[in-house]
Amino acid sequence: MTIAYLDGEYQPLADVRISPLDRGFLFADGVYEVIPVYGGRPFRADEHLERLERSLAAVRIVDPLDRAGWKALLEGIVERNGGGHQAVYVQVTRGAAPRDHAFPPAALPTVFAMSKALNTDPQTRPLHVITRPDIRWTRCDIKSVALLPNVLMRQEAEDFGASEAIMVRDGEVTEGSATNVFVAAGDALRTPPKSAHILGGITRDLLIELMAAADIEVREEAIPEADLRTAAEIWVTSSTKEVAPVVRLDGEAVGEGEPGPLWQRVNGLFQDYKQRLMRGEID
Ligand code: PDD
Repeated sequence: MTIAYLDGEYQPLADVRISPLDRGFLFADGVYEVIPVYGGRPFRADEHLERLERSLAAVRIVDPLDRAGWKALLEGIVERNGGGHQAVYVQVTRGAAPRDHAFPPAALPTVFAMSKALNTDPQTRPLHVITRPDIRWTRCDIKSVALLPNVLMRQEAEDFGASEAIMVRDGEVTEGSATNVFVAAGDALRTPPKSAHILGGITRDLLIELMAAADIEVREEAIPEADLRTAAEIWVTSSTKEVAPVVRLDGEAVGEGEPGPLWQRVNGLFQDYKQRLMRGEID
């Protein structure tokens, strides 16, 4: 039984009730985070919580908890859901109020959290992806719950027999529907620079850090769409997919059509990091 949190109370997820006037429901007026947990230990908790704080500030929702409060909530969910590997989902909306676009003067933010299963089986990771035009707004750096374009694109991927869509804006790769993108083409490994056109992924940032420490050069640089077609390797990264190698793009093989040597190496660094986290050697 999944235990969730709503506005100060832990309860079975199936019992949680939210008002139909909640602005998350009516306007997608809210933000969220997904925080992976390995062996009961949250992964990069401060980085995720910092991003949550930035998202809240960007949409002008007063942060309902301080950092210690968020950490206590995280711990509360992890423990009540049995530790181990899980993905904690946290959502804050502007609260419930009579429907009007302008901010309600008196509403209190709704704070909701739950735990989802985290699939850590690498066998499931080689992905087929499609490309699609990036039809989203220009504040993709905010982790908003307004995900309809992402949902539509992800479904188009499923309809094609793939499982992720990589988006292209003005001829350049932005990101996946729920992932960041790394491309090894020519002699360079690149990932798009952080901007308002992508979500600055926590997994992305960690990989860049781990690669720097291992002397693997990665450039935060624009990637023309054409480079996707000639790439030796493409990976997509996220809190729930980790570092997933892409083996087919729009139905064509990427490189040799199997996870490449650079991915093997970088995924190894990532898996080592997880092991160190689980052994308590890092926070
Ligand atoms: N999504 N870009 C988008 C649009 C995302 O939704 C996500 C994550 C990422 C990767 O960020 P991170 O490495 O911090 O998870 C990039 C989460 C997992 C989700 O919506 O479920």
